[in-house]
Amino acid sequence: MKEIVPIPPAIVRNDAAAIQQLFKDNVVPSYARFDLALSHGSGSYVFDVAGKRYLDLGGGIAVCALGHANREITEALISQSQKLVHVSNLYYNEPQGRLAQALVKLIAPGKVFFCNSGAEANEGLYKLARKFGHDEGRFEILTTINSFHGRTLAGIAATGQEKVKKGFEPMVQGFRHLPFGDLEAMRSSISPATAAILVEGLQGEGGGVTPASPEYLLGLRRLCDEKRLLLMMDEVQCGHFRTGRFQSYQRILENVPGGEGFLPDAVSMAKSLGGGIPIGAFWVRAPYADVLGPGTHGTTFGGTPLACAVALKVLEVIERDRLADNARETGEYLKAELLRIAEKYPKIIKAVRGLGLMLGFELAADIPAFSANGKSASIQFTNRLHEAGVLAIPAAAQVIRLLPPLNLARREAEEGIRIIQSVVARLAS
Ligand SMILES: Cc1ncc(COP(=O)(O)O)c(C=O)c1O
Repeated sequence: MKEIVPIPPAIVRNDAAAIQQLFKDNVVPSYARFDLALSHGSGSYVFDVAGKRYLDLGGGIAVCALGHANREITEALISQSQKLVHVSNLYYNEPQGRLAQALVKLIAPGKVFFCNSGAEANEGLYKLARKFGHDEGRFEILTTINSFHGRTLAGIAATGQEKVKKGFEPMVQGFRHLPFGDLEAMRSSISPATAAILVEGLQGEGGGVTPASPEYLLGLRRLCDEKRLLLMMDEVQCGHFRTGRFQSYQRILENVPGGEGFLPDAVSMAKSLGGGIPIGAFWVRAPYADVLGPGTHGTTFGGTPLACAVALKVLEVIERDRLADNARETGEYLKAELLRIAEKYPKIIKAVRGLGLMLGFELAADIPAFSANGKSASIQFTNRLHEAGVLAIPAAAQVIRLLPPLNLARREAEEGIRIIQSVVARLAS
């Protein structure tokens, strides 16, 4: 048999400048990237091409639920890829059916549609709402200011932030944005054309980690029942056990009178669902589960056996290793420590917000050590974290998000806190 000889790498592996040049020459410059070229990872750590180690408290923006190079994900990938990677949705395949069953079991009776990303999961929600309202001439979806729902044309129209829309006008019609948390504003904005309301359980990207209140969620449910609107939740970032329960609304409404009976009509998911393998999904509640009938919606790669087998493995590990409890407990530790740092250095950290392993800390205005180089405070702080060996995610101009793997160990959380505190202390001195 002919021996397969590995092709030599095209560039020297540890040459960050050569990698950056490849991007400069060949990759659409739509991302403002940090000056890091990453090469490999292991658990909660990633390494750059020069071998420097970083504690990854960003988790690939809430994606790497089991950390990096997870052995069980690798094994699931290998074993499924030896059987069936892709067949199209012209046929049935067992992993997709089993994953749908698992998600239905975790939420409530209903059905699931699979796709490839958060934006695409939300596209499904917009189409669900339009189809639902169509025969009565209803098409409008109300969303919130500072929301983030993805970068497709309808996604930027749904998103309540001007900066994502700029240059792409005219916007897709049928979206209006109301202040997050303001139930009365939502109520008074409902028109005869309104079909649905879409909110995040915790605003991540735009809101800099701002949880919805229990009263807001319960009020939205009542409002949607009263006006016959779909209540749709974007759990792309805040879902999948990140807050300590499967979906963030379950955590927010925990021990709240009336909270256990709360159920949205549809939920979008992605990010942690595949632990790093691209997969998105939306669940729709039983009475509306057949609104999108044959021929109304589809996507070639949605729910491939490969992605679904991995997502099933991620769910299995989360359950077996009680990672929801870990997210809750390690999150509480991190939040308490961040609050302690904020109390000690109020001129650097102004506020700490979030639930479980979706945390944000807001930087104080006008930190003197930051230079007037046009870069936001959150970017400058993140650069300093990188220098000190931690990855974290900036949100808006002033907030740093922590979205680490759900299996982040206590000693890793302690290491993260030590490094964050050292960066804060240096800024304060
Ligand atoms: C709440 C929320 N919705 C939707 C999206 C879009 O997901 P994707 O980037 O996978 O399209 C994101 C991504 O950050 C998100 O945070």
